[in-house]
Amino acid sequence: MKILITGATGLIGGEIVSACHKKGYSVHYLSTSKSKLQNRENYKGFYWNPNKNKIDLACFKGVDAVINLAGVSISKRWTATNKKKILNSRVKSLQTLNEAIGKVNHNIASFVSASAIGIYPNSYTNYYEEDCQEVDDSFLGRVVEKWEEAADQLKIHGFPVSKIRTGLVLSEDGGALPQMAKPIRYYAGAVFGNGEQWQSWIHIKDIASLYLHIIEKKLEGVYNGVAPNSVTNLKLTHKIADIYNKPILLPNIPMAALKLVLGDMAYILYASQRVSAKKVEESGFQYSFTNICLALKDILQEKSQFQEELA
Ligand SMILES: NC(=O)c1ccc[n+]([C@@H]2O[C@H](COP(=O)([O-])OP(=O)(O)OC[C@H]3O[C@@H](n4cnc5c(N)ncnc54)[C@H](OP(=O)(O)O)[C@@H]3O)[C@@H](O)[C@H]2O)c1
Repeated sequence: MKILITGATGLIGGEIVSACHKKGYSVHYLSTSKSKLQNRENYKGFYWNPNKNKIDLACFKGVDAVINLAGVSISKRWTATNKKKILNSRVKSLQTLNEAIGKVNHNIASFVSASAIGIYPNSYTNYYEEDCQEVDDSFLGRVVEKWEEAADQLKIHGFPVSKIRTGLVLSEDGGALPQMAKPIRYYAGAVFGNGEQWQSWIHIKDIASLYLHIIEKKLEGVYNGVAPNSVTNLKLTHKIADIYNKPILLPNIPMAALKLVLGDMAYILYASQRVSAKKVEESGFQYSFTNICLALKDILQEKSQFQEELA
């Protein structure tokens, strides 16, 4: 199998590339950065610039499936300029792929696009399954809605299109977890708000396997990319602290305080989405990590022991 991946050089993409290579799949990838292009037998890079609708059509040669992860990080100040980049990078990437696929002879049998649980309305009580039609009344909710609409346009090519509404991806190499863990290790960790907001997490290995599962089974539609047991921010913070054997000494941080530092982007730390993994489980997917303690131990503990030995 040969898979074309956009955003392959990012956090989730890197893990998917490793998972592909373990299975003997080869990878073509599109990068917006010429310096990231490599040309190995099972890992071949092609340049694109979705902003200018530019793409190297050779990237589709021999490709059986496409994974779309491209997009500017949402973890930067939500200024008017950055908001435009966050939305446009996602929509234009899908539009560029859509137009390009229309121009080539292809054998694509499956198309999977990243999406996010930020589409679900902020709620302490709701339990979200994929058939929820409501959209969170926030910048993020509207971005994800437009992102999914752009992905759905690819259906005109006749292959199954699916969208993985991804939760908080836990990894030692990037994303939110290292940012949360660092202050905790130095006695400066704190719970956000009242800590009751749900955080629907997934281990990096599981999100990578889920992408391949959806491709292999040629599934279509929406799938929640979260582990079966969401936790509150309070629990997540304390479980990270347990790994490092550190207390949480500081008082909870109110949203207004963090908004002064991060601006509107602080919203992502306080938004609550409790999201179901039932549809994914029923599709036959086997999670490696369903328990937050075991997931955190796997990611943080080895590193923590190593750091203590060095200290
Ligand atoms: N990590 C999470 O917890 C999480 C949660 C929910 C949803 N997601 C979504 O899943 C996708 C992958 O997440 P990730 O954490 O792996 O993200 P990431 O590490 O930020 O990687 C995203 C990749 O997108 C590409 N990119 C950057 N700017 C771009 C632009 N203007 N146009 C096209 N491509 C651009 C970059 O690859 P090149 O430099 O090679 O072009 C980058 O490596 C993202 O769309 C993200 O929003 C992630």
